Amino acid sequence: MTTTPKRDAAADLARRFADYVPSLEGRDIVAIRPSYGLMIDGEERAAEGGATFPTIEPASGAHLADVAEASPADVDAAVAAARRAYETTWRDMPGRRRAKLIFRLARLLQDRAREFAVLESIDGGKPIRESRDIDVPLSAAHLFYHAGWADKVEYAVPGMAARPLGVVGQIIPWNFPLLMAAWKIAPALACGNTVVLKPAETTPLTALLLAELIDEAGFPPGVVNVVTGAGATGAALAGHAGIDKVAFTGSTGVGRSIRRQLAGTGRRLTLELGGKGAHVVFDDAALDQAVEGIVDGIFFNQGHVCCAGSRLLAQEGIAGELLDRLRRRIELLRVGEPLDKNTDVGAINSAAQLERIRVFVDEAAADGCRIDHPSRPLPDRGFFFPPTIVSGLGGAERIAREEVFGPVLAVQTFRTEAEAVAKANATRYGLSAGVWTEKGSRILWMSQRLQAGVVWANTFNKFDPASPFGGVRESGHGREGGRQGLREYLDTTPVAA
Ligand code: NAI
Ligand code: MG
Repeated sequence: MTTTPKRDAAADLARRFADYVPSLEGRDIVAIRPSYGLMIDGEERAAEGGATFPTIEPASGAHLADVAEASPADVDAAVAAARRAYETTWRDMPGRRRAKLIFRLARLLQDRAREFAVLESIDGGKPIRESRDIDVPLSAAHLFYHAGWADKVEYAVPGMAARPLGVVGQIIPWNFPLLMAAWKIAPALACGNTVVLKPAETTPLTALLLAELIDEAGFPPGVVNVVTGAGATGAALAGHAGIDKVAFTGSTGVGRSIRRQLAGTGRRLTLELGGKGAHVVFDDAALDQAVEGIVDGIFFNQGHVCCAGSRLLAQEGIAGELLDRLRRRIELLRVGEPLDKNTDVGAINSAAQLERIRVFVDEAAADGCRIDHPSRPLPDRGFFFPPTIVSGLGGAERIAREEVFGPVLAVQTFRTEAEAVAKANATRYGLSAGVWTEKGSRILWMSQRLQAGVVWANTFNKFDPASPFGGVRESGHGREGGRQGLREYLDTTPVAA
């Protein structure tokens, strides 16, 4: 033995990556058209004045298509179509028929799952492994789950008679373009509402393909309308006097502006906003399991996840060892082509988001934090950022408190449970948290004190359509999924005893 184990490991790693042959998912299953219109009243149409915006492929920077940019007049037309559909067909359609249509949509989505997964990865940059195994199946699961409720909504809220609200405006972000569309439209439709949906400007294509399936499934025209565009289109929809509810997922800043727009109007509002979730790892936790959970919690979808575990609070006794294992683990993550089936971390969604992430990390470095990322180079085109661990934090740094929305983990330590709770709650957000310990009583004690809509124990990022999801504090209000989520789309009045 002449070489040290450490050099062996490094050589091993180099060989492993040098010999690598990518396993690319074919793009041919997807036919991206040069241009896309708005989907209003069951028909595709150009925006007023022919306005368009481009959508690109973040992994290459290549232009994919020009997409119609809806003006306030186009939003008017979509809201009017949704109102007509509500009053003439959807509101009074028996629940079992609504169920059948939503069920059919879920089946069509399953039939074309590969096409949706490839398109999602091309337009948004996420690894095909995730769009194939998570985004698309979970979208179908939400449709199936809510199809099952459509003829039972009168029992959704015990003791209450329930009616639909009317027309709902739904504005969704770019991190889970198809999944957020499904999360939003499934409960709205099951409860008898009609929809105007606004996808995010960097990722409109899967929502537009979903609109084609909605038509194919046989939904009456106007039940789901899709208006593409950027913030101005979103603001025109959120502020429209003809809608009865706004459901928004996105940044806390925009959520706040929508709340101001709706104040005093009596219109309903649910907000699913940012987060700064903490993993709390105690010294009795199964460390390798925690490492996998932490890696999944922050590097899943490049960290573009509202409930990402973007902070790690490690108990002092194991902090050093945990950090060593994490640093070794990120060396093994493959960063690159989203359509490669072995890719762990894909492309950052946009140049603007990449820049935001860079500024956060540069600031942390300037603040004296230690920055670790894998030693291998990034792809030489497209928008990429390496999986990054920031340690040596005091806690006052911006990176310890604000949402980066990128593959960046901020690490701090703690001694006692009380200190862990205080640190985990030292943010204005409250969406998710994770507790890692062998002790059941400690899990319960912690989960009662952590201010978060979801607390996972010895796991992270687990989703189910039957389980309500949402935040507290500046992460928003309202729930999506489960019975609680249905309530957000219903007008309820007490049933006389
Ligand atoms: P954003 O909040 O601007 O975008 C989300 C959606 O809102 C998009 O469809 C957008 O077109 C729409 N929108 C923008 N301005 C609007 C307005 N005034 N009225 C109505 N709709 C409007 O998010 P952005 O700028 O793309 O990302 C910035 C930061 O926001 C990220 O770095 C991240 O921290 C956070 N974010 C959080 C998300 C989450 O799920 N928690 C999702 C997206 C962004
Ligand atoms: Mg795009």
